[in-house]
Amino acid sequence: MKVLIVGGGGREHTIALKIAENPQVTQLYAAPGNGGMAALCQCVPLKATDVAGITAWAKENAIDFVVVAPDDPLCLGMVDALSEAGIPAFGPNKAAAIIEGSKVFSKNLMKKYGIPTAAYEAFTDFDAAVAYLQTAEMPIVVKADGLALGKGVLICNTREEAVQAVSSMMKDEKFGASGRSVVIEEFLTGPEVSVLAFTDGKTIKPMVSSMDHKRALDGDAGLNTGGMGTIAPNPCYTPELAERCMQEIFLPTVAAMNAEGRTFKGCLYFGLMMTPKGPKVIEYNCRFGDPETQVVLPLLKSDLLTIMQSTVNGTLAETPVEFDDGAACCVVLASGGYPVSYKSGYVISGLEAAAEDALVIHAGTKKTDEGIVTAGGRVLGVVGRCKCLPGAISKAYAAARKISFTDMHMRSDIGQRALRELEAQTK
Ligand code: AMP
Ligand code: GLY
Repeated sequence: MKVLIVGGGGREHTIALKIAENPQVTQLYAAPGNGGMAALCQCVPLKATDVAGITAWAKENAIDFVVVAPDDPLCLGMVDALSEAGIPAFGPNKAAAIIEGSKVFSKNLMKKYGIPTAAYEAFTDFDAAVAYLQTAEMPIVVKADGLALGKGVLICNTREEAVQAVSSMMKDEKFGASGRSVVIEEFLTGPEVSVLAFTDGKTIKPMVSSMDHKRALDGDAGLNTGGMGTIAPNPCYTPELAERCMQEIFLPTVAAMNAEGRTFKGCLYFGLMMTPKGPKVIEYNCRFGDPETQVVLPLLKSDLLTIMQSTVNGTLAETPVEFDDGAACCVVLASGGYPVSYKSGYVISGLEAAAEDALVIHAGTKKTDEGIVTAGGRVLGVVGRCKCLPGAISKAYAAARKISFTDMHMRSDIGQRALRELEAQTK
């Protein structure tokens, strides 16, 4: 079987490693891939957003199955184009990917079907948004409607900040067309949990829960990033909360998308907050999370390709989705200056030594004649696995410290919040 993976980050490298475990896979391709994926995939120099180019290439090369991993090609309709060309593809079609592509859509969906989320108002008119802010309670959260690389969410403590946030999105078009509509929503508090779930539109099977660390610096300080590290499972997500989320959020979301004529197939990502009033949805993503995937998939015992095929064929109910009961921790090694500005092209050393006792996942890397060099903001994810979380954290950091490149930056506290939660539970 010939399988193509669309994308080139840490998430896609992790997916590739897992798919390569299936003995039916004879050849793996990645478009565009990265320096680490090049070791197990043939990398095709096409952009992940090139719907027509990738579809034509997949057809010409008789690809049997495509995994579309990033949000933008999904929202652009890559799965629709591949299906029309007769190539089965993992991921939602364009109509369903809107659950991530438009926050106004997802908030209205939750309101209509009674799925718990923060109270909100949506605006397309700047003056109406500003008028609303005059009487709204602070802090408040301002979100750009469309895709914004995870940066379109601003938490505002004062009215002035909130007006400034709305102005930057609607007037200055800081996020382009994505910010022409905005959602202004209630500020919620509580531990955050990420849950990725496979669904074929009938059955939904959640994966092991995880916790992201979005801020750039230790102690959750600094700017929001795409994610500086993750742990799984998330100790805040108790079996009782998992059952509540299944009944109040996961099943109702699948049913709501069906009722809207937008059946979702693929991986649905629930960004959840465990508030004092119960679990609420902070965001939906129409794909695997990055770097959540780096800790979730290494714990998957069942065959990933078989599960992915079952979401396309509608046979997920009969397909096992089982996880190891151990823990995993991913520490992201980033380029100094990320998420604002950084330099690339630095040679990375210590990769082999780090891989002795951890999984070294490539994100922004490139294979060159000088060796593997940095080629992005988030460069690597170093994943430690162990029976328990403290062991997974130690293994990830021990391996991460063997790697170096100019201006390398990592957080030193990935997993510490989860450890404090575990301690509190055993007291
Ligand atoms: P998002 O890009 O929607 O995941 O938002 C980024 C981060 O902003 C989330 O992980 C939360 O930490 C925070 N956030 C988003 N919405 C809210 C909210 N309504 N209340 C509090 N924090 C929020
Ligand atoms: N780690 C958050 C995301 O993938 O959106």
